[in-house]
Amino acid sequence: MSLKTEIDLNNLPKHVAVIMDGNGRWAKERSRPRVFGHSNGVKSVRDITECAAELGVSYLTLYAFSTENWKRPATEVNTLMKLFVQTVKKELKTLNNNNIRLKAIGNLKNLPKDTYESLIYGMKSTENNTRMTLTLALNYSARWEIVDAVNQVMNDANKYPEGVSHDQFESYLQTAHMPDPELMIRTSGEHRISNYLLWQLAYSELYFTDVLWPDFTKDDFYKAILSYQSRERRFGKTGEQVKK
Ligand code: IPE
Ligand code: IPE
Ligand code: MG
Repeated sequence: MSLKTEIDLNNLPKHVAVIMDGNGRWAKERSRPRVFGHSNGVKSVRDITECAAELGVSYLTLYAFSTENWKRPATEVNTLMKLFVQTVKKELKTLNNNNIRLKAIGNLKNLPKDTYESLIYGMKSTENNTRMTLTLALNYSARWEIVDAVNQVMNDANKYPEGVSHDQFESYLQTAHMPDPELMIRTSGEHRISNYLLWQLAYSELYFTDVLWPDFTKDDFYKAILSYQSRERRFGKTGEQVKK
């Protein structure tokens, strides 16, 4: 029996966030350069996007490049930036055919010009799609996002003589208008957050798998969803209270 049939479609996470990790090690296992891992990771992006949309997930957010990833060797960074441009260009038609909207979060203005422009073009061409929002976190880090939000609030300080509320503050984050992820998946066996969505993951269920990102399949995604569905989310209450 396929794992998919075990999923309760009435209890799907609306938003799944993913840290796509392990491309470099996947390439190393094959005695190939790290960038070979990145190009093979694109297939997993395609499969998981299709899989999430088919299931009925509304938001899929993928960590593609952190602000810390600039510290990598220039050749790797340059290849990744080119890969983003190529992939967005190549996948636009499929995104539109599948009614998927492309978004990007992060410090986009500081990306190389062609990467920035291809993202803007991709977002513009898919802006009316409604089935699922695919968000790429690019040149993103949660600490950058939070400090950026604080700076925007300070610019608007005259609007908030009493200080900002939780909801007002959230409206300045990159993820404004998106619900918080109920589920966060990290591949490659690392058990850390690496500066991803620190605010938004406050109550997310975390799922870690040893599978390296280029090997991550639809079945692996179903396993993560099934794990999510087996958990009791308490949000500070007691188990007895949430069972009522
Ligand atoms: C994730 O894979 C992709 C990016 C960070 C861009 P890595 O490149 O981090 O792969 P490992 O962790 O070195 O195996
Ligand atoms: C996190 O992976 C960033 C992305 C997946 C884009 P890293 O491989 O950069 O994280 P660390 O350095 O192992 O924490
Ligand atoms: Mg890594």
